[in-house]
Amino acid sequence: MSKTFYIETFGCQMNAHDSEKVIGTLERRGYARVQDEVDAGLILYNTCSIRDKAEQKVFHRLNEYKKMQGEGKRFAVIGCVAQQEGEKIFERAPYVSLVAGSASYRNLPEMLTRLEAGETRITGLDDRQTDETFETEFTARSNPHRGYITIIEGCDKFCAYCVVPYTRGKERSRTAASVLVEARRMADEGFTEIQFLGQNVNSYRDPSGRMSFAELLVAVGEISGVRRVRFTTSHPRDFTKDIVDAIDATPTLCDHVHLPVQSGSSAVLKAMAREYTRDWYLERMSWIKAAKRDISITSDMIVGFPGETDADFEETITLLNVVKYDAVFAFKFSPRPNTPAVTMADSIPDEVKTERLRILMDRQREIQREHYGRHLGQVQECMVESYNTVRRQVVGRSSQNKTVNFTADLDNLPPIGGYVPVRITQTLPNCLVGEALAAGPNVSDAMFFVPVVRKPQFVVLN
Ligand code: SAH
Ligand code: SF4
Ligand code: F3S
Repeated sequence: MSKTFYIETFGCQMNAHDSEKVIGTLERRGYARVQDEVDAGLILYNTCSIRDKAEQKVFHRLNEYKKMQGEGKRFAVIGCVAQQEGEKIFERAPYVSLVAGSASYRNLPEMLTRLEAGETRITGLDDRQTDETFETEFTARSNPHRGYITIIEGCDKFCAYCVVPYTRGKERSRTAASVLVEARRMADEGFTEIQFLGQNVNSYRDPSGRMSFAELLVAVGEISGVRRVRFTTSHPRDFTKDIVDAIDATPTLCDHVHLPVQSGSSAVLKAMAREYTRDWYLERMSWIKAAKRDISITSDMIVGFPGETDADFEETITLLNVVKYDAVFAFKFSPRPNTPAVTMADSIPDEVKTERLRILMDRQREIQREHYGRHLGQVQECMVESYNTVRRQVVGRSSQNKTVNFTADLDNLPPIGGYVPVRITQTLPNCLVGEALAAGPNVSDAMFFVPVVRKPQFVVLN
């Protein structure tokens, strides 16, 4: 096998970041990444299983790999479908040599040694056994300005519809000390934005007992060079008021909380085993809304959970009206293997799910159209992400995680990864439009930032 690899990644940000760590591990071992699978000795497929017959899609893709076998090529299936389907993958796709779920990535170096020695049926299937996390000497972050740190892995919540507790193992946190070492190193390398990741990021428990989640947020926000700290995804059960207080007190903590509710009906929430009620959730909303800063709130919703009545669905719509989210990611309930919901009675016909999804998204779009209006005339700091050459606009992101398309001096465009103050001149349901402010008597120099990027180094984390 030649020491070249190609990797394909699906799924959530945790999967994207796992791939960055897997790439780092491979590069550290002398592998070179190639952009075309044809040139690769090792093809890795990092899979997601959250919805919509994901395993069928994986087997379909593996069939395409079949045509590429020979030529000394090796195949690895990793991620959530790998953990879910396990050794069945070898049966359906015998040319695959490695099947590993994310809870076993800490053993990746050892698994690679076996792969390099020619072994063909290597598994890393840690079925909710380990307490260890995946920490690498080198992480190949794809963006030099903002980067992820997974602070907690796995999930112990077992919502009735969800595969994650089965695919990612049990909940386990990294020590605050190790997170801080990594964050400081990132700041030294020039990263200005750090995003904490976890399936339930705010369920974080420092194994050394030194810091709470909110204290860790503040500590990272105070690192010199860090301008923005984000965290996703929060779970309502573990959402404590000190998180809101931390955001209020620490300007570098972004004014955005993604707090998925899933349903506005307490009866459906009970059936989903979310372990909170509509009122419990609304109490958390009231903490966020009482903050001094305008904290943007976003959510995930599921429509058509088994037994969801028209009246239950109506409660989801009234919740939208009350909370006024800045964005909602809504999904039709999708039955998933191994989960309790797969065998629940009163399944909802697909047409009804489709119709409820449409109603929900239409209503939410109207809410955003109206609610984004509050930003008109404001000056917001934007991180530059890209340029839209057709529309001659700069594409930036606000602290609230909104896309801001703005005009700037074409002869003196702000650099990617830089920060600029932008006056909002128009608001649309999904983005803001504005114009970059030039330095002048009313605009402080601190609002402008030009990025400096240093080469990342190998690091031994402790
Ligand atoms: N840990 C987070 C969510 C992680 S999964 C939380 O508890 O909020 C991301 C989103 O996918 C969920 O919020 C949910 O809305 C959606 N999802 C998960 N399983 C699903 C399923 N079986 N059908 C439809 N949507 C699902
Ligand atoms: Fe899935 Fe629930 Fe865990 Fe979120 S909290 S990952 S929805 S089981
Ligand atoms: Fe998918 Fe696994 Fe993430 S199922 S959404 S890749 S945790």
